[in-house]
Amino acid sequence: MAGRFIVLEGLDGSGKSTQITLLAQALQAQGRKVHFTAEPTSSATGGLIRDTLSGSYARSGAELAALFLTDRIAHNVDPVRGFRRLLREGWDVVCDRYYYSSFAYQGLSTDLDWVLDMNLNCPDLAKPDLCVFLDVDYRSCKERLDQDRASLEIFERDPEQMNETRRLFLEVFRRLEGRENIRVVDANRSAGEVAEEILQLVNALEI
Ligand code: TYD
Repeated sequence: MAGRFIVLEGLDGSGKSTQITLLAQALQAQGRKVHFTAEPTSSATGGLIRDTLSGSYARSGAELAALFLTDRIAHNVDPVRGFRRLLREGWDVVCDRYYYSSFAYQGLSTDLDWVLDMNLNCPDLAKPDLCVFLDVDYRSCKERLDQDRASLEIFERDPEQMNETRRLFLEVFRRLEGRENIRVVDANRSAGEVAEEILQLVNALEI
């Protein structure tokens, strides 16, 4: 039996890491094999991306979108580290960010239709069985980042840009209705309540 491909998305500071840990623990407790992964990955391309995220090397939105896609293709199909093989072997793959982040972040600075097209029509990319978007007020995200991080990445600095990113996530989700299984979860609640709702969504998958 194939595993399920589950993606968590949200603004920086939305509590994704906590929820991914809780979800992985809950699925393991159900006896499932769980593989946790994240984008950008630790590949060489991921390194180029991180140079830009840290602010040390500027790249255009289009360059970043192309780098994220290259990283994502290897993340799917690399013979050693690619997760598609794991899905076929029955592992549940829980991924911290996927192409929805490219739509919302790179879509603000390059052509959104191009970013949608090259990701959604790329033959190497698996389509998630479920994407959960943790919806948190951008001001709370910003507060959390300012408290927790020693230095901020380029997309964590400007609260107005974070609000625009959230707006674009929600706009793209409306465009993808009927094509992708996306659930927006109100994450302005306790971690336990949010985790319970996410687990219910995963348990409801008919695979
Ligand atoms: P993040 O999940 O915050 O990783 P970390 O906790 O290690 O910093 O992701 C890093 C940043 O990358 C985040 O600001 C969103 C951005 N990003 C994109 O702009 N496009 C993408 O396609 C992806 C996957 C991430």
